[in-house]
Amino acid sequence: MLNPEIEKKIDELLSKMTLHEKLGQLNQQSNEHGMEAENREMLKNGEIGSFICNTGHFGPTDGNPAHNNRKYVNELQKIAVEESRLGIPVLYGKDVIHGHNVVFPIPLAMAAGFDPDLVRDAYTAISEEAANDGIRWSFSPMMDLSRDPRWGRCVEGYGEDPYLGSKMAAAAVEGFQGDDLSRRENLAACAKHYIGYGAMEGGRDYQKSELSDYALRNYYLPAFKSAVDAGLRTVMSSFNEISGEPTTSSHYLLTELLRDELGFDGFVVSDYNSVLQLKKQGVAETNADAARMSVSAGVDMDMADRCYLRNLEKEVAEGRLDESIVDEAVRRVLRVKFELGLFENPYVHYEEADIDAHKALALRAAEQGMVLLKNKNGALPLSESEPVGFTGDFLKETWRMFGAWTLDGVNEWANTLEEAVRKNFPEAKANFSHANNLIDRYDGVMESDTVVLALGGHPEGEASGLATLEIPEDQKALIKKARMSAKKLVGVFFYGRPMALGEVEPLFDAILWCWHSGTMTADAAANILYGKTNPSGRLPMSFPRVTGQIPIYYNCTPSCRNVDEYYPKEPFMYKNYRDTTGAPLYPFGHGLSYTAFEYSDVSFDKTELSPEEINGGKCFEVSVKVKNTGDRTGDEVVQCYIRDKVASMMRPLRQLEGFERITLAPGEEKTVTFRLGLGELGFYGKNGKFAAEKGDFTVFIGGSSYAPEVGKVTII
Ligand code: NOJ
Repeated sequence: MLNPEIEKKIDELLSKMTLHEKLGQLNQQSNEHGMEAENREMLKNGEIGSFICNTGHFGPTDGNPAHNNRKYVNELQKIAVEESRLGIPVLYGKDVIHGHNVVFPIPLAMAAGFDPDLVRDAYTAISEEAANDGIRWSFSPMMDLSRDPRWGRCVEGYGEDPYLGSKMAAAAVEGFQGDDLSRRENLAACAKHYIGYGAMEGGRDYQKSELSDYALRNYYLPAFKSAVDAGLRTVMSSFNEISGEPTTSSHYLLTELLRDELGFDGFVVSDYNSVLQLKKQGVAETNADAARMSVSAGVDMDMADRCYLRNLEKEVAEGRLDESIVDEAVRRVLRVKFELGLFENPYVHYEEADIDAHKALALRAAEQGMVLLKNKNGALPLSESEPVGFTGDFLKETWRMFGAWTLDGVNEWANTLEEAVRKNFPEAKANFSHANNLIDRYDGVMESDTVVLALGGHPEGEASGLATLEIPEDQKALIKKARMSAKKLVGVFFYGRPMALGEVEPLFDAILWCWHSGTMTADAAANILYGKTNPSGRLPMSFPRVTGQIPIYYNCTPSCRNVDEYYPKEPFMYKNYRDTTGAPLYPFGHGLSYTAFEYSDVSFDKTELSPEEINGGKCFEVSVKVKNTGDRTGDEVVQCYIRDKVASMMRPLRQLEGFERITLAPGEEKTVTFRLGLGELGFYGKNGKFAAEKGDFTVFIGGSSYAPEVGKVTII
């Protein structure tokens, strides 16, 4: 619902603006070193609507309030407000992706926590810190669904599942924006990258995505839809093309689908230089063509390349572009500025953030996201009286554990794994090796029966594709060497994405997947290793055995013959591959605990509903009792999957339609209830319409996507 008072103020302002000033509002300027004088001049002329604060003087604050951006941000704002003709405040945006000074886990690791409430709280904390540095707009959350861990940016999103992605996306938007965007500590969120960027062919960044409308709507769109429903204020268009059309110039995607169908009423910003890149993509001949095509498609603000500012006046003057299109774009940008309260409070309002509370939250998020992949014979947790040799090049690491996009993270606040073990478990008989190369390091701890290898990779992200997902050869050599002497071998892995562990996995007794989990990564890993925290993370992306299995994802459609596909228990006659199986090494939703959970007493409140009842909002309720049968408190992520048995289009063998994280003390039990209605049972069919079709739906409930079948419901 638009606010009529704001719309009136926009009308008044628009009526006073020259076309040049309007284009200024659509211009998002970068601030590389050397541009400072020019930018001051442009601000006076009303030629800058927003700054992207990743560069130049908007550099890292290193957590020291004396070094922060506040002064600079206020100085530039003063020029916009006091020296430009109309005094329109400038909007500062930044890639505040998974933390500001306190770094939270990468989004993929937060998705592994299966806890939207925690994600909401995390982004509330993150916003508060960023707002203290003058940032009122974050280019986040990234909600690109990805089925390809070769794509470096899969770490910035929520994994392979549209349902989980939708819950996480909405939570992040709510965390950033709060209930009232005008409060000083809230930021406008930006859903990116709209759309289909996660479907990059071969995981190659900046290349193409080939997506049918069916796949787009059923898999890639739901997260954006749920973000819009949560009140999202901005969207970033993506670099990629879909089926021959760059999203930056797609009227269908940016206007018909996003605005007319989903009802988005905030503004769209291009990705960095992506307006100009329409020339590189071969659909625009000149800069003017590129600018006209993207503004007409629905890109309101032009990030960095100044294509709008430099070209659109002439396009209007010579009749190729209707000024009303520019007016509409300006209206949307001003709307968000008014909603942010920038006209009333353009300057930074600093209030000290509770950094200790934020660190505690970041620790919880890190612990919840870490996934115990394997634990043979209860190899973990370690006991403090057990002599343990630690080695590996992530023993002394901090910043590489932060993950991609941590522009303002404070390195000094993080412990290394060695420090975390020593501080949190001073009695532990731990021995740390410090040689320079992996193998020599190992020799330093060989005498321990239990060996922990801390291994990992660089922060992933943009332009960080990997053609090989097997871990590097020196890590494999270390693992093989360690296996020859260690009685118990534990792998603690710090990679941002799934890796193909097929070759080395059998060599380990236990594997803890720690991701890049921000400031508190090492503390969380140490707490789980020594059993202070019971692991509870679940995989938001399938783990392949070998790179060649990619794409591999749990919500695949049935094959036309019996083949050894993702779900290995089905009888099969044919094989997907002659050299491996069709099943992943670890499926979506997988994650172990130090305790055990028993599922029982599944009950359905009803098993039949008519189409009218479903369309009218009625639901099936499915309940299950979950009991902690082990001897320590733990969290279980109870997951509900469905399969639409026969439909007009091929439907997935399983699709997640509900989950709940519960905490159970030993012996305790809880009943969890899932509601299955139109949203859960429906899909976008051939006509592009969302509907639930008649017929049977199998229901599966359990602790991963390999959950057992528990019954069925029918739309009669
Ligand atoms: C390019 C990236 O694709 C996008 O995610 C980011 O927000 C912008 N650059 C701005 O840094």
